[in-house]
Amino acid sequence: MTSKLLLTFAICRLIVTVGLTVDPSEPLLGVDDQLSVDQFDVETASLDFGLLTRAEPMAVLHPGSAEDIARLVRAAYISSPGFTVSARGHGHSINGQAQTSNGVVIEMSGGSKGRRLGLRKLDKPQVSIKEKHVDVWGGELWIDVLRRTLEHGLAPKSWTDYLYLSVGGTLSNGGISGQAFNHGPQISNVYELDVVTGKGELWTCSEEENSELFHAVLGGLGQFGIITRARIALEPAPQRVRWIRVLYSNFSTFTRDQEDLISLHGNPYSQKFDYVEGFVIVDEGLINNWRSSFFSPRNPVKISSIGANGGVLYCLEITKNYDEATADTIDQEVEALMKRLNFIPSSVFTTDLPYIDFLDRVHKAELKLRAKGLWEVPHPWLNLFVPKSRMADVDRGVFKGILGNNKTSGPILIYPMNKSKWDQRSSVVTPDEDVFYLVALLRSALDNGEETQSLEYLTNQNHKVLRFCDDAGIKVKQYLPHYTTQEEWRDHFGDKWDQFSRRKMEFDPRHILATGQRIFNPPFPPPTRTVSPW
Ligand SMILES: Cc1cc2nc3c(=O)[nH]c(=O)nc-3n(C[C@H](O)[C@H](O)[C@H](O)COP(=O)(O)OP(=O)(O)OC[C@H]3O[C@@H](n4cnc5c(N)ncnc54)[C@H](O)[C@@H]3O)c2cc1C
Ligand SMILES: *[C@@H]1O[C@H](CO)[C@@H](O)[C@H](O)[C@H]1NC(C)=O
Ligand SMILES: *[C@@H]1O[C@H](CO)[C@@H](O)[C@H](O)[C@H]1NC(C)=O
Ligand SMILES: *[C@@H]1O[C@H](CO)[C@@H](O)[C@H](O)[C@H]1NC(C)=O
Repeated sequence: MTSKLLLTFAICRLIVTVGLTVDPSEPLLGVDDQLSVDQFDVETASLDFGLLTRAEPMAVLHPGSAEDIARLVRAAYISSPGFTVSARGHGHSINGQAQTSNGVVIEMSGGSKGRRLGLRKLDKPQVSIKEKHVDVWGGELWIDVLRRTLEHGLAPKSWTDYLYLSVGGTLSNGGISGQAFNHGPQISNVYELDVVTGKGELWTCSEEENSELFHAVLGGLGQFGIITRARIALEPAPQRVRWIRVLYSNFSTFTRDQEDLISLHGNPYSQKFDYVEGFVIVDEGLINNWRSSFFSPRNPVKISSIGANGGVLYCLEITKNYDEATADTIDQEVEALMKRLNFIPSSVFTTDLPYIDFLDRVHKAELKLRAKGLWEVPHPWLNLFVPKSRMADVDRGVFKGILGNNKTSGPILIYPMNKSKWDQRSSVVTPDEDVFYLVALLRSALDNGEETQSLEYLTNQNHKVLRFCDDAGIKVKQYLPHYTTQEEWRDHFGDKWDQFSRRKMEFDPRHILATGQRIFNPPFPPPTRTVSPW
């Protein structure tokens, strides 16, 4: 015990002084060779996809196992003054949620360095064909989970639009895409988790075992523990996807059709689409945005010919999965479903592709944007859950109002989900109504002289959108929420705040974990050497 304490002090000295005067031969709780203060590691961990905030950690851990993480958190928990610990999935947050300036960032997904250090020891995803599930490391990227499970003809059921996100990162938020209406969000498709709590204890949890921790962690914004393993539900993987886009100029017709399509979820015997999303086209330029490779030269869109009269258009995006055995009937099935819809007749765009290519579609757009230097730019994204009954107000006030017909760079997604697929015991919050929409303003700030694409302009628009909703009494909930005061967080969680803070007291009483979310005050003042978001 004494030697263990000594080691704890040693690791704290390393981290708190960062001077790194510690004798490198001194073993530090067994994670010494995985702790790095390398400039590249620190720089990487201080940034995220949003490129809006920056906080340098004191060190970065490349874990080789869940036990490594438990050792580090334990050291943080029992030492004084202690330090914070933030798991970083793939760093795809917008507002510094995985950053910390007075502690250690754990690189869950690793870069090349991570692989050379700790992560090389981690197991690949383990597929159980019989039980139809897969056990994955918390830092595994969804693309790697997909590739692995496809080897067995299986695949997870519920997705995000983009697959270069970590399992632990999306499960800490929700994980949504066009399958959520049918299967629920990703947090509704998890059987079991291994979690390192803020006390440094490693627990297995599920609906049956340690269920309080299980529900707390799902959608828990990293506040209660670090997910080191997840057991994810699988289904037989479809082989191909029929992918269709149709346009609307009438918003109420558009949303009525979307709601009609998601209402088919309940009946296992009725035909339904497998994916239902949509996006808003506020200006014609948007059709050439980062997801529009779909409208290829073979599929040209002449908006002017559609008769939108310069107004806003809405694109419904739907898919139907199939495989060789059902290839004969796919045309009829799709046709029958399309008969339900009231889109602009001349506006049907169809593509057909392998399942993995459909799921990995955003990565193709990423590569194109990277090539043009348009990926590593600030992303002032705003994601809102809007109650169905107020969508017409959002159309008028936001799509046709605040966003006007400004040139924008980046998609504006809009699709409905059914609350019945969301487990109310989890930490995530949704609006009160049965059906709510995701409204996602996923815009990039560009420094190209266009005022309406500047970071300042877009940030200001986001504030206007939030203020509009507030003034109009539209009870939206932010998805991937970002607030800076506890008052705002209390408001966000509403009825769930008491439970959320009680769970915090139980599982991370010293407020060590994921302080970048800025929900609970950090346990100690930040050191003077770094600029703190606080
Ligand atoms: C291009 C792009 C497309 C996206 N598309 C979608 C989409 O379609 N649907 C959707 O739902 N989301 C989407 N997202 C958002 C994404 O789900 C979030 O960014 C999420 O945070 C996952 O990213 P990450 O794995 O990099 O996590 P990070 O940003 O690294 O971490 C997010 C938070 O989770 C915590 N965390 C990370 N790993 C763990 C862990 N193992 N255990 C506990 N806490 C952890 C962190 O401390 C942090 O607070 C998208 C993001 C981008 C950039
Ligand atoms: C949109 O369609 C609805 C009926 O579905 C109709 O009442 C309304 O007038 C239409 N709006 C416009 C602008 O055409
Ligand atoms: C939402 O789900 C509930 C429960 O299955 C169902 O009764 C309701 O009709 C659904 N609503 C829609 C629009 O799908
Ligand atoms: C952007 O849209 C708003 C709202 O319609 C409008 O008032 C403003 O003039 C537009 N700005 C530019 C530069 O187009």
